[in-house]
Amino acid sequence: MTAIRSVVLGCGSYLPERILTNAELAAKVATSDEWIVQRTGIRERHIAAQGEFTSHLAIKAARAALAHAGVDAQSIDLIVLATSTPDNTFPATAVSVQNALDIHHGAAFDLQAVCTGFIYALASADNFLRSGAFKRALVIGAETFSRILDWNDRGTCVLFGDGAGAIVLDAQPQSGTTPERGVLSTHLRSDGRHKSKLYVDGGPSSSQTVGHLRMEGREVFKHAVGMITDVIVDAFKANGITADDIDWFEPHQANKRIIDASAHKLHIAPQKVVLTVDRHGNTSAASIPLALAVASADGRLKKGDLVLLEAMGGGFTWGSALLRW
Ligand code: ACO
Repeated sequence: MTAIRSVVLGCGSYLPERILTNAELAAKVATSDEWIVQRTGIRERHIAAQGEFTSHLAIKAARAALAHAGVDAQSIDLIVLATSTPDNTFPATAVSVQNALDIHHGAAFDLQAVCTGFIYALASADNFLRSGAFKRALVIGAETFSRILDWNDRGTCVLFGDGAGAIVLDAQPQSGTTPERGVLSTHLRSDGRHKSKLYVDGGPSSSQTVGHLRMEGREVFKHAVGMITDVIVDAFKANGITADDIDWFEPHQANKRIIDASAHKLHIAPQKVVLTVDRHGNTSAASIPLALAVASADGRLKKGDLVLLEAMGGGFTWGSALLRW
């Protein structure tokens, strides 16, 4: 049986130059390197320069992904950009990326699912490609969370960073078996009962301000591992595999303790877990494609590897994806 699969042709990323260390944060708010490392695993994060927007990070990541894939920008007919920190309320940041790449055909749009944004964007692009509506997609996660942080709130300002990552997805006919390359399945969930646990206290319709990120950290932590592991089990069941079959676990990088606990509960070996939270902090929708780019560049992630992605974020939203790299 012939089916269309969305195959990853390449990936790329971009991090702003400025690195903000825990020690620098400790000079501004009542915190310490020891507290941040012990509770989160984060040591430093990148912060966008003044005048450097989410679109600028996304364009650099997209160009890197196109170069890595070895394809021309003109072959892209779909751009899905996951972000909660767009340049403007509208138009979509994705159209700025499209324009910068000199693409004037196809479609480009933003998608907002907070930290689960990249999984939602991947699932959306995958469905468009498999339906035959588009042939080749750029899937991007790009954020400047530094712009929505309350820098006086030590409970949140130490956790987040800026960055962007992108992948190129290509629609290819295949027979649809697990050993073949491509996105094997995606699993999306949300539950708005939790929306007050992690939110931004502003917006165009409510306050006409951008607002600041607010979080009940302990509440988020309490739900995170259960939600993440549930949706990973869905991916295992859908594909008839177990944790032993996974080559790489590339989770959303929010907190090392959440990642460790999820991997432990699922019996995923620690050496299969790709960790970037120590150097990037939580870059929301950008964290997974940033981690993919790191593991690809350092030679860990190879063609044919089975890769498990997962994320959980504001809403709550959560989701997983299984793909053969
Ligand atoms: N430095 C020092 N002390 C701090 C800091 C800080 N940066 N932040 C909070 N504290 C203090 C609190 O004030 C509190 O003090 P008190 O006991 O005197 O009241 C104490 O530390 C414990 O606070 P908790 O919030 O209970 O600390 P906890 O152990 O839960 O760790 C943390 C906080 C790291 C935020 C944790 O709850 C967490 O990781 N939660 C999940 C957050 C997360 O991953 N969010 C993102 C997921 S979704 C997304 O990616 C958008």
